Amino acid sequence: MDVVVIGSGSWGSAFARHLVHRGHHVEVLTLTGAEATGLAATRENPAFLPGVRLPDELTFRAMDEAEIGTADLIVYAVPTQAIRDVATWVASRRSAPSLQLSLAKGYELGSLKRPTQVIRELTGSPAAALSGPNHAEEIGRDMPAATVIASVDMAVAERLQAAVAGDTLRVYTNDDVLGVESCGAMKNPIAVAVGMSDGLGFGDNSRAALMTRGLAEVARLGLAQGARFETFSGLAGVGDLIATCTSRHSRNRRAGELLAGGATPAEAAAQVGQVVEGFPTAYALHDLAARYAVEIPVTENVYEVLEGRRTPSECVADLMGRVPKRE
Ligand SMILES: NC(=O)c1ccc[n+]([C@@H]2O[C@H](COP(=O)([O-])OP(=O)(O)OC[C@H]3O[C@@H](n4cnc5c(N)ncnc54)[C@H](O)[C@@H]3O)[C@@H](O)[C@H]2O)c1
Repeated sequence: MDVVVIGSGSWGSAFARHLVHRGHHVEVLTLTGAEATGLAATRENPAFLPGVRLPDELTFRAMDEAEIGTADLIVYAVPTQAIRDVATWVASRRSAPSLQLSLAKGYELGSLKRPTQVIRELTGSPAAALSGPNHAEEIGRDMPAATVIASVDMAVAERLQAAVAGDTLRVYTNDDVLGVESCGAMKNPIAVAVGMSDGLGFGDNSRAALMTRGLAEVARLGLAQGARFETFSGLAGVGDLIATCTSRHSRNRRAGELLAGGATPAEAAAQVGQVVEGFPTAYALHDLAARYAVEIPVTENVYEVLEGRRTPSECVADLMGRVPKRE
């Protein structure tokens, strides 16, 4: 396949590298010409994926010089809040038969749309979504992993499964695009909460409680939107939640630790240095939960901390003081 990967951050770089090893012709589109020149010259992405060699076959081009009309597959590897800009750019340049695949995990602020909904709105064509426990730092080093590709059209999901799956990446298909994307978005604020708990010096019991009750609220809000229950127990659901909440690679968990250490949200995001999707997603979920009248107490506490209305320590009292419930 001729593949264009838009976004040269951690995931774009690692995923493009993986696709080259699968035998595809891959071009990564960068925001600036200097970035493309640097990546091509050094074959490394020190800002986003240090220590991973990028294959010689991988080409890099600045978006304003790129041609995507002949691409078989367009991959969106940018933060969720940039999907609208990128899809607008793609819409006027792509040829109709190209497939589209979103790697983004979040909800758009304001519209509360998922990445594939924004892409469809702007390009007039559906996009598949890839999601699962897939840290770029590990995929970039060929450590075995599994993921999910979701599409409303199972023939498309199967084509993409065949194109992406390899010796070190097992790919499952799913037609519950809503569920797969919702899981990928909603686990990030839970990981911020777990990071706050870790940063406050709490232990495994606290982490397990946050993850389990976090999954319960993720499923509640997902089901209210129309997702399928089984998706939450799959790789894109509990699988990604485990990876994001427990990994040293997780920026969302790390950002939570920094908040617990007294950093402001802006300081935490700056220190992490790459997109912390859990922050905008907490705002989007606050609005989405109100729309569907669903309680999401863990995420709401993260939202309150981001708003500066509650400290991480005060979240403990809020969560513990909730009305007693049946599990
Ligand atoms: N890093 C991971 O391990 C990982 C794994 C799975 C999913 N994701 C998801 O993939 C998405 C991208 O994450 P990432 O880790 O690569 O982020 P990142 O911060 O490492 O990189 C983002 C990239 O997007 C580019 N970008 C930003 N705005 C752009 C725009 N308007 N046009 C073109 N390019 C733009 C940036 O220049 C940067 O190269 C996020 O939604 C994230 O949740 C990441």
